Amino acid sequence: MLSPQQQQQFAREGYLVLPGFKPAAEVAQLLQRTHEILAATEAQDIGGSFGTQDPGGFWNRWFLDSDVRVRCFFEEEALDAQGRLNRPVPLAVNKIGHALHDLDPVFERFSHGPALAELAADLGLQEPQVWQSMLICKQPGIGGEVRWHQDATYLHCEHGAVIGFWFALEDADTDNGCLWVEPGGHHGPLRERFVREGYQTRLERLDETPWPDAGRARPLPCEAGSLVVFHGLLPHASQANRSGRSRFAYTLHASDARSGYARSNWIQRDASLPVRGFAAR
Ligand code: FE2
Repeated sequence: MLSPQQQQQFAREGYLVLPGFKPAAEVAQLLQRTHEILAATEAQDIGGSFGTQDPGGFWNRWFLDSDVRVRCFFEEEALDAQGRLNRPVPLAVNKIGHALHDLDPVFERFSHGPALAELAADLGLQEPQVWQSMLICKQPGIGGEVRWHQDATYLHCEHGAVIGFWFALEDADTDNGCLWVEPGGHHGPLRERFVREGYQTRLERLDETPWPDAGRARPLPCEAGSLVVFHGLLPHASQANRSGRSRFAYTLHASDARSGYARSNWIQRDASLPVRGFAAR
């Protein structure tokens, strides 16, 4: 799947962009299913908004119990001061997570199969475990900024790292909030670690290394169907979407079974919904 040059680039820079990884028909099917879920969701079904500016505020039961469910989260700017929606639900949802890949048949098909299994093996995941999935809407006009972070903060491994799989379902560019990364930044330390104990959570500061400034940050504009894979320690971010175009993307996060996936991570699986790899059923 990956050439030796691509594998070297992943090791050196911490990410790879793979244009055209998903055929247009599969992307269209996933978008259609996403719009069906959004259309079927009532405002009162949604128990919390999602924003990264206030890391303490949204880690509530609505969020924590979404580890083995499919739940929607509002954009912060879709709610007024009284908490009322200021637009229809399909334009107000920030994301859907976090077990789409196991619970929804259309997402399940998109998230598994030989191409992903082969790619994961090439990235060093000999026995992959896919912990979470997110459909990120990045709505036109109000799609919120995602501050600089490392995914290993939320899905920590004691010896190894989670890998993010970021599928562009629509064209992403600097106007509608594409991904930004710090090339090579995965060689740096883990800054923060998110720890869960029951329904108590805390964000521990581990290292004071600053986030990349404009000179070190690189935007990753890409077309629908592209896949960006990146190392769990790679600093990345995205800006608010103030354009008139949405920027739907779908993400999966996987680690190797031998990498010591931390017991303190907020997502754990048991026999009721076992963690799986990328192999199709
Ligand atoms: Fe992330």
